[in-house]
Amino acid sequence: MYADGKMLLSVIQNIVSNALKHTKAGGNISISAKKKEDKIIVEIKDNGSGMSKEIQDQIFTPQMHRLSEVRKENKGAGIGLLLVKGFLEKNGGEIWVESVEGEGSSFLFYFTY
Ligand SMILES: Nc1ncnc2c1ncn2[C@@H]1O[C@H](COP(=O)(O)OP(=O)(O)OP(=O)(O)O)[C@@H](O)[C@H]1O
Ligand SMILES: [Mg+2]
Repeated sequence: MYADGKMLLSVIQNIVSNALKHTKAGGNISISAKKKEDKIIVEIKDNGSGMSKEIQDQIFTPQMHRLSEVRKENKGAGIGLLLVKGFLEKNGGEIWVESVEGEGSSFLFYFTY
């Protein structure tokens, strides 16, 4: 794929560290990648707490105030996914989330290659 290697590592570390924070011991976190047309789609999937639609709509934009309660609970600074999104966009990629509250989350992103 065509991307900055250190940036890609940082993206994966951020998303996996979130998955670890929100998944109980004994849960599952998986990373997979597949080709689709001129893109490589990477998926990081967990079967942890999941997120409501409302939270899903806010996690990639600066929402420090409204998300502050959730972020205080998990002791996050609340900037990981903002950085991840910025990194990906600078490398011509995109990120999105699919999640069901109580069942888990999948973070998907792509690069061109
Ligand atoms: N895998 C996940 N499962 C459930 N909720 C998640 C998951 N990943 C992210 N979130 C939610 O999205 C919010 C934003 O994530 P983000 O990485 O931007 O901030 P943070 O992890 O709280 O803090 P930081 O990454 O700066 O330490 C989290 O606070 C959490 O509510
Ligand atoms: Mg984080």
